[in-house]
Amino acid sequence: MGRSVPEGRRQLVADVSSATRGDLRLTRITKTYGDFTAVNDLSLTIPEGSFFALLGPSGCGKTTTLRMIAGLEEPTVGSIHLGSTDITTKRPYQRPINTVFQNYALFPHLTIFENIAFGLRRRGIKDVDADVNKVLELVELPHLAQRKPTQLSGGQQQRIALARAIVNRPALLLLDEPLGALDLKLRRQMQIELKWIQREVGLTFVHVTHDQEEAMTMADTIAVMNEGEIEQMGSPADLYDNPETAFVANFLGQSNLIKGRIEGSDGDNLVVDLFGQKIAMPKKRSHAVDNSIYAGIRPEKFRISLVGTPTRGNILTGGRIEDVSYIGVSTQYQVLMPWGQELMVFEQNDDGVAPFDKGDEVVISWEPNFTFALRGDEDADAGTEVIPEDLDEE
Ligand SMILES: Nc1ncnc2c1ncn2[C@@H]1O[C@H](COP(=O)(O)OP(=O)(O)O)[C@@H](O)[C@H]1O
Ligand SMILES: [Mg+2]
Repeated sequence: MGRSVPEGRRQLVADVSSATRGDLRLTRITKTYGDFTAVNDLSLTIPEGSFFALLGPSGCGKTTTLRMIAGLEEPTVGSIHLGSTDITTKRPYQRPINTVFQNYALFPHLTIFENIAFGLRRRGIKDVDADVNKVLELVELPHLAQRKPTQLSGGQQQRIALARAIVNRPALLLLDEPLGALDLKLRRQMQIELKWIQREVGLTFVHVTHDQEEAMTMADTIAVMNEGEIEQMGSPADLYDNPETAFVANFLGQSNLIKGRIEGSDGDNLVVDLFGQKIAMPKKRSHAVDNSIYAGIRPEKFRISLVGTPTRGNILTGGRIEDVSYIGVSTQYQVLMPWGQELMVFEQNDDGVAPFDKGDEVVISWEPNFTFALRGDEDADAGTEVIPEDLDEE
């Protein structure tokens, strides 16, 4: 990835000296404001050339972390390395790092061309045409070079902000909720485009967002942040399929977490009791520390069947449909279980079978492999108080 950059664009990234390139390493970073800890003992490595997302609810410390990487804040404790260079106390302009913010921050009195050329000219580079035109082509807006920022749409301005950062050939590009001001449809389009541009130029992108779908669409690796700490880090699929904490299970997508006990073992599986009914789940997906667990199953992994129809895999009986929401591509059911918990079930509308009705007595089943287990002393609601989409209005 990123190593097969087309010839014309290779130059864009070739200029940064090797001493200041390489992986970005944050080592035991803490940032306090008075007696408030915004970032707590955070360590992570961001591989060179990767698209890395820092995902978490508002106030969890994402921007603070980014500002320390950019040099706009100094860590209270800890160090930051880029490759073999310690940049912890370097001034922002001494770091080969650029930041793209949500509000673009283009210069209103300059043309688009001059906005992009600004950083190059400030570094004393006289012949800027080739570089500026190259990045204008990269963001597919060469025809707007002579316009002023106010003559561009929000999405176009955001692409220019990106071009202006990329033209400086930073070793690292930081993006702080860069798509937050765009409407949903344009945001989805820009997510795909950003990912494409990152692959083209091969720069390391560190993207901050509270939008889990955005992080999953774009990032190679996601670090889920909560209250100044990293809860879990991994590929989007890893985090989704095998969350280690209730916060991750609930913040990244939705989860059904059912209280249970490990009763025994059967080959590679654990035998688990859920309110008197036995299920199986893979040992390797258990993050429990003792026999008390929450069994986790994603809503789309459940199947619903009427009592009396054959089912396979894990089975939970005694359900009753409490609510049916038809969403077009899927139907979402709330199923009340005998122990008083409502489970969420998403069924794709692909088989033409009439959806179940409110009041139907049903059985829920799923493949044992789709089960994960969390510690039984977790707060099963962690990460649900914050509904990511609600924050879009902030
Ligand atoms: N300069 C500051 N002084 C005091 N508290 C701050 C300062 N900057 C950030 N904070 C606090 O640190 C926490 C993390 O903030 P921030 O990193 O901006 O969160 P995020 O970007 O994840 O929404 C918040 O509670 C915020 O109020
Ligand atoms: Mg922020």
